[in-house]
Amino acid sequence: MKKIALTGIKPTGIPHIGNYLGAIQPALKLSETCEARYFIADYHALNATKDPVALRSMTLEIAAAWLACGLDPDKVLFYRQSDVPETFELLTILLAFTPKGLMNRAHAYKAMLQSNNETGKDPDDGVNMGLFSYPVLMAADILLFDTDLVPVGNDQFQHVEMAVDIAQSFNHIYSNQALRLPEPLSQPDSKTVVGLDGRKMSKSYGNIIPLFAPQKKLRKTVMKIVTNSQEIEEPKDPDSCSVFSLYKCFATQDEIAALQGRYIAGGMGWGEAKQELFLAMNRTLAPLRQRYEELMQNPDYIHQVLREGAAKARPLAAEKIRQLRQIIGID
Ligand code: TRP
Repeated sequence: MKKIALTGIKPTGIPHIGNYLGAIQPALKLSETCEARYFIADYHALNATKDPVALRSMTLEIAAAWLACGLDPDKVLFYRQSDVPETFELLTILLAFTPKGLMNRAHAYKAMLQSNNETGKDPDDGVNMGLFSYPVLMAADILLFDTDLVPVGNDQFQHVEMAVDIAQSFNHIYSNQALRLPEPLSQPDSKTVVGLDGRKMSKSYGNIIPLFAPQKKLRKTVMKIVTNSQEIEEPKDPDSCSVFSLYKCFATQDEIAALQGRYIAGGMGWGEAKQELFLAMNRTLAPLRQRYEELMQNPDYIHQVLREGAAKARPLAAEKIRQLRQIIGID
């Protein structure tokens, strides 16, 4: 039997190269060997976003992005969290098995307390209950579908471990194995994607290369990658260079070896290295960009894909809820 892999995608607008290499590509690769269930976590986004227009368009954009990158909705169960209301019934059940103290230890919540503390604000300033109980909703997402593997970034490991804690507490109380214990799956690539300034590529650092930037904009952005001030003729160190680091993500083995040779030999300026990077990137991204633009011209199709995904997900979810209601005595 194939393992079940599930992950939630927060609708945060158009993804960047780091998201693509660190999250989208590995998750799509995983879907070749697992039964994959990937969903847009729109109710998670509500905790932070109160702008309905933005939430709607970000949901559409992120769905289009994953489809453009090759998610095949016939192979991957692809749905919107809000279209599977069983999630929220499971959330209510799980809340009764979640110690408040467990939530107090969540990194995201603790980080907010600390920043409030540092700025002299009330400790709970800006913390809504959705944010506080975020890990329980995430546990509901995961446990509803008998998930084995959760591909996530390292920052989400703690949340998956909390889902395990909550599931164990439920199973223990009813002396059964009704909730399958999930395992976080690390995506090692995500650490190696550097941004324009050499730090990890991240929206919060403002150092991203957008995934679907038009060709001209992509070239302009690549040219902004920070390099050192070595002259053209000087030999250069590929291993400490952001341009080369990104090149390795898009070029073939032969191309990588060739560019490495040119770095070491000297005689190549940064402009030229960046042009090589742009060409390699554009080769991969041009078809994705085109597909993304086509999809965004046709939002009805995207909505239909998500609706069909939910129609397949709901019977699975309903069956799970039926079993759980029986166990807890609400049937
Ligand atoms: N919290 C995840 C993030 O910020 C998104 C998410 C929501 C998720 N529910 C999930 C990830 C369930 C894995 C499983 O990226």
